[in-house]
Amino acid sequence: MEQTLILVKPDGVQRGLIGTIIARLEQRGLRIVALKMLQMDRALAERHYGEHAGKFFFEDLVSYISSSPIVALVAEGPSAVSVVRAMVGATRPAEAAPGTIRGDFAVAGLRNLIHASDGVERAKVEMALFFKGDEVFSYTRDVDKWIYEK
Ligand code: CMP
Repeated sequence: MEQTLILVKPDGVQRGLIGTIIARLEQRGLRIVALKMLQMDRALAERHYGEHAGKFFFEDLVSYISSSPIVALVAEGPSAVSVVRAMVGATRPAEAAPGTIRGDFAVAGLRNLIHASDGVERAKVEMALFFKGDEVFSYTRDVDKWIYEK
């Protein structure tokens, strides 16, 4: 079963959208297997966004993501990485389709509420930044047989 890292960013926490965002993931049928609130420090922000180091927006991105607490979680399910990316919507909220999280709850600039890993390998790297091995749970739910087919 695939796993992906999701961050409810500072704007999502400040706007009271933690529950709404997690509810969407659960309602889709994904299993939440890790969950915590934390405030990213500069070092963690620079590691998480390391691939953007040197880009003109890097400083803004690092200060935005570390400006207030966030919620980090791991969601699990078939094709979880691509399923969640589709649920999240386009990077710029103004371009995000209705029905996506950004398209339904965000409108301007890059106040885009949520981060989700963009590939399976990247998800493993990002999960390790936020969770120790024993903080990611392995369990099944009785309802899984009605969601995952097998
Ligand atoms: P996220 O999905 O968290 O991953 C990388 C982030 O970089 C992205 O969301 C945006 O918030 C940010 N980002 C991407 N492109 C730009 C840009 N041109 N200017 C500012 N921030 C950007």
